[in-house]
This record gives sequence, C-alpha cells and structure tokens, in this order.
Amino acid sequence: MSPRISIPLGPGRLFDGSPPPVLDPAGPYAGSITLLSWVLFAIAALVLAVVGTALWIAFFGKARTRQRLGGTMVVWAGGIVFPVVVLTALLVWGLSLTASLSAGKGDVADLRVRVTGEMWWWRVAYLDPRGDVIAWDANELHVPAGRTVLVELESGDVIHSFWVPRLSGKVDMIPGRRNFVKIQADRPGVYSGQCAEYCGGPHALMGFVVVAHEPAEFSRLLAHMAAVSREPKGGIAAEGQRLFDSAGCSACHRIAGTGANGLAGPDLTFVGRRRTLGAGILPNNRGTMMGWIGDSQAIKPGNRMPAYRVLSADHLQSLAAYLEQQK
Ligand code: CUA
Repeated sequence: MSPRISIPLGPGRLFDGSPPPVLDPAGPYAGSITLLSWVLFAIAALVLAVVGTALWIAFFGKARTRQRLGGTMVVWAGGIVFPVVVLTALLVWGLSLTASLSAGKGDVADLRVRVTGEMWWWRVAYLDPRGDVIAWDANELHVPAGRTVLVELESGDVIHSFWVPRLSGKVDMIPGRRNFVKIQADRPGVYSGQCAEYCGGPHALMGFVVVAHEPAEFSRLLAHMAAVSREPKGGIAAEGQRLFDSAGCSACHRIAGTGANGLAGPDLTFVGRRRTLGAGILPNNRGTMMGWIGDSQAIKPGNRMPAYRVLSADHLQSLAAYLEQQK
C-alpha cells in the first residue's frame, strides 16, 4: 500500500499521494494543452452524438429518412470530407503545439535547468547561460514565477517521463538523448509532478515537486545555492555529521562544502529545505527522515537505499538533525 500523506501545495490544495490534477493548468504551456484536450473532447462528443443518432435512424427511422441518410452525398460528406478536414486540422494543431513545447537548444528562456531521471528519483542541476552547472539538487525544482524555464531532460538508466501536469506536457527522458520541455508557472506556488513512464519497481512512487517563487526571491535563492558553504555545527547535528561519514552515507550522497561526494543517490546539500522525502512521497520532517533512513525499504519497496536497521533511535535522531540543517 502506498503511504497516504498530506503536503500543503498552496492555497486550498493538498498533495495527498493522489495523482496531480491534469485539467487545471497554472501556466501558458499547460493551458494550451488543456485547450486542445477540451476541443478534442468536444469534437469526439459531437461525433458520438451524430453517429448515435444516425444509428438510431438506421434501425428505427421512417423509410424515407433512412433512404435520405444512405444517400451518396451524405456518405461522401459525413464519411470522407468531414473526417479528412477535421482530423487534418487537429493533426496540424497538435504537431505545432508539440513543437512549441519541446523547444530546441538555441531557444531563449529565462532559466535553464537539467533534470535527469534516475531509478527512482530526479537529479536536478541549475545551469548558467553557457550550460555549466551552478548548483545541484534533487527531487525538487525551484523556478521564477511568470518566466519561461527550459528543462533539459536526460536519463541515467532507463526511460522515464517528466510530467508536471499543471505546468506543461509530458516528455520522455531517454538514455543517450537530450529532450527539452518548456515549463512556466504564472503564480508562485507548489506544483506536483510524477514520472509518467513505467520504469520498474517503485515507478509509481517517483514523484517530483516544482516550487515557483517571485523572481526576486528566486534570484536570492539561486545565489545562495550557488555559493553554499558549510560550517561545522555543534550539538547532536555534529554527532550526525560524524555518523553520516562513518555509516557510509557519503558513499552515495553528496553534500556540497563537506567531504561527502557520492553521486549514486540524491544530492543532500539542500535536503533540509525540501518539501518531500523519498522523491515526492513523504512530507519532510524529523520523524519521516528518521523513518526513511532506518527502513526506506518499508516505505518505498525496491528503492536503491539499503535499510539501516542497525542504527539506534539516538543515531537516527542525530542524522536527521544534521540533515535538517542542510539548507
Ligand atoms: Cu521513472 Cu517511471
């Protein structure tokens, strides 16, 4: 059973483990997809009504009406001309919309980021205009509201699909290839996403969060992330830092400004600031952090982090305290 949890996602909205809303666009790219969806739905409903009526007439109509319905002109107009015109128009609309969303490399955007699909989490890199990495993060993407963000999509292992339904369309992350998708949130808020391509084991628990900020606030945040430095802290967090190295956490996880340089698992440099743990599936607090480290296999079966059942509650407490400070 997947965990049922509630995470505030902005005004009147909770992330409760259910799929993100798909017909509630929060930006221009998602908006144009939603419009196309409704037009497709309306045309399909109209065709169903017309065909249903024609069928009814064919069975139960008066002989004269049936004869008129079977006339050559009706067959040509309704059976050939109408489908050809409507389907061609929809095809052209759909293709041009797709092209406008999956922008090319030279496209102008206010921010460029790279998101890499991993089994079963998301590696996030903020890029400068030349394409060099400014800061690393995982499972949470911060963006400026009202600005176009160009997301480069890659995969570290198998095919995943990046999907934040309220901000844009769904685009595959394919090993050895780089795809692009433009996203935009009109207003500050938190928008949930989900891996949309079956990628094995805990695929359904491969969630994602996009946080849109006022542009000035976002600039401050990015500057902070780019210039991060770590001071050794006192108290139980210091004990946590010692455990982080001795228990082997640093073999898979990186914390910028410390000796922890592992790349196999999510970057933990800013884990204390994230809304969720386990890639979008748990709210982030002291208790869930302790539970996740102690036995993540019970929470997200099949994920690649081993359970650390040997750690005592005190040890888990210290580790969680240390990780909480990583902001
Ligand atoms: Cu990654 Cu499904």
